[in-house]
Amino acid sequence: MIDEAVSDFEAVHGGRPAGVWAAPGRVNLIGEHTDYNDGFVLPIALPHTTRVGARRREDGRVRLYSSQGDGTITDIALDGLAPGVVAGWSAYPVGVFWALAEAGHAVGGADLFVDSDVPSGAGLSSSAALECATAAALNELYGLGLSAPELALIAQRAENAFVGVPCGVMDQMASACCTDGAALFLDTRTLEQRHVPLDLEAAGFRLLVIDTRVKHDLGDGAYAALRAGCERAAELLGLDALRDLPAVGLAAALERLPEELAPLVRHVVTENQRVAETIEHLDGGRIAALGPILTAGHASLRDDFRVSCAETDLAVEAAVAAGALGARMTGGGFGGSVIALVGAAEVEPVADAVRSAFRPAGFAEPVVFTAVPSAGARRVA
Ligand code: GLA
Repeated sequence: MIDEAVSDFEAVHGGRPAGVWAAPGRVNLIGEHTDYNDGFVLPIALPHTTRVGARRREDGRVRLYSSQGDGTITDIALDGLAPGVVAGWSAYPVGVFWALAEAGHAVGGADLFVDSDVPSGAGLSSSAALECATAAALNELYGLGLSAPELALIAQRAENAFVGVPCGVMDQMASACCTDGAALFLDTRTLEQRHVPLDLEAAGFRLLVIDTRVKHDLGDGAYAALRAGCERAAELLGLDALRDLPAVGLAAALERLPEELAPLVRHVVTENQRVAETIEHLDGGRIAALGPILTAGHASLRDDFRVSCAETDLAVEAAVAAGALGARMTGGGFGGSVIALVGAAEVEPVADAVRSAFRPAGFAEPVVFTAVPSAGARRVA
């Protein structure tokens, strides 16, 4: 894959890249829609990555090509770059140049060749992978000396302000900072992080990812509306963020909120608790105990936060009925992927059960794979 990245770069740009950088997609084990509420998340990086072959240009231009694009080179001058001037997939990498310059870093042009096996629109953070691989490349090409969390914040800024998606920081932090064999426990307020060892295979378990192939799009307004609802609720409760509402105060707080905001708050508060419980079980080596927590998290996203859909609900139901210890949708929702915690012997039976449930429902055949916690952004050549 790496040799291919080098030869593909040569074919498009002529000459060799200075290096190739890779950044992964992610699944979130638990802690959904908590990141923009200053809460807690627990993602793992996937083995699937976006690779960026890159070389400096001295003329202030960015020339971009993607194997997943339309076969043309995007050629843009950095001078005069502003949100709104670049559309489509190029906005993600170009946004990283913009965010770095905005933050005062001296970044010039570059030739970039992008290739990716992170499924897009599947809730697996293909955008964060693209942003973080670009950020890692520019960090070294221009000797910026930024740390992995600093690169993640640049990538998030690119997505928020240049692409225009008001996402939290989880996906970029996962893609930039995760390590092999561990989940990333992140406090999204302090950005304090801990790598929690997660060797599912040694414990006899597997994590299935079920991509329902219902394309989700965080840019369509529903995500922004949920975020605004949470921020409004915090304001009504006199809090900086919903993270500051302790579980013991939940019932009283719910009574003070309008009907449409109460369930959002209930989800965020109980979800932060589920992250804490999950961490306790992982620290105690009790992996099977995660199952019911995952399924309870799904019910909360479905009934309170309302970001599930028929396909993700059916995947969870069918997986659990076929013996998964627990399952939930992962990522922003409105489609995308489901994760299921299964015993090693249950991988095929659970995958088959989900496929068999999808067929009569008239849903597209889901794509199922097992995920192992993998490394974050790095140089690969
Ligand atoms: C998307 C966003 C993240 C996070 C999740 C929901 O993946 O990019 O910041 O809010 O949704 O947990």
